Amino acid sequence: MKLTDTNFLCCPECKANLSVSQQNGTNGDIKRFLVCNGCKKEYFIDGYYIDFMGGRTLAYKGEWEKFIRSFYAKIYTPATNFMFLFCGGVKTAKKEVLSHLDLKDNSLVLETGIGAAENFYYLNKAARNLSFFGIDIQKQMLIHSARNLKKWNLQAELFLADAEELPFKDEMFDVVFHLGSINLFINKEKAINEMIRVAKPGTKIVIADESEKGGKLMNLFTGSNDVVIPPLDLIPKEMLNAKIETIWNGYGYVIEFWKPLKK
Ligand SMILES: C[S@@+](CC[C@H](N)C(=O)[O-])C[C@H]1O[C@@H](n2cnc3c(N)ncnc32)[C@H](O)[C@@H]1O
Repeated sequence: MKLTDTNFLCCPECKANLSVSQQNGTNGDIKRFLVCNGCKKEYFIDGYYIDFMGGRTLAYKGEWEKFIRSFYAKIYTPATNFMFLFCGGVKTAKKEVLSHLDLKDNSLVLETGIGAAENFYYLNKAARNLSFFGIDIQKQMLIHSARNLKKWNLQAELFLADAEELPFKDEMFDVVFHLGSINLFINKEKAINEMIRVAKPGTKIVIADESEKGGKLMNLFTGSNDVVIPPLDLIPKEMLNAKIETIWNGYGYVIEFWKPLKK
């Protein structure tokens, strides 16, 4: 799969098809980008990722949260490793979530909110010939991801995009999961519906984040008053076997459900 495979991608906003285009840069270089065949928006290819955000990034409630979250993004791996000590260690905590995936050889795997791509490292050991796709809303995270993927000699397609508006056509992925920030999404329902839309019929979808107990701990670091309500009620009724489980020594939850096969 090529990063710019337009059979695979769509406009994140209007969902129309995309075409590859190019223009001459100021210093004679050629800039390649994707153009939406519907709304005509342009999405630039920034080396190893496609920018579907066009300058937008995380929404912050205030300057303090912006400072903390931007700083956290810079020191992401050591900070996360520290916080996961409360949850039994980062490796155990991630495996506790990843063990819920229905992973088979040759699967196309999508993670929304990829962070530093560490989950792909573990999944790559769990099945053969996986194709990895990761989106994240923060450019800093794609920088961490690209560095790690190179270190691990692992291939993944990266996109700067919002989990609430995925740039993929319907029913593309065999595995779809999110680990770690849905509690803070502006529109959780939209993000869940997007995960369902891009999953093939019969796919198991997995969503994990901090529980109320974990949220209280996070609030100590961020200075926020966020209240965690795991989004089980937002799973559409037509999904199958939706359930929630407490993980990470009580600091997290994992929700799983199946997208039904077509009748
Ligand atoms: C706590 S980290 C977890 C990263 C990774 N899933 C892991 O398990 O290591 C959450 C990630 O979600 C990203 N994120 C937050 N809101 C997002 C959104 N609306 N769309 C896409 N990514 C988002 C953050 O930038 C961050 O990289």
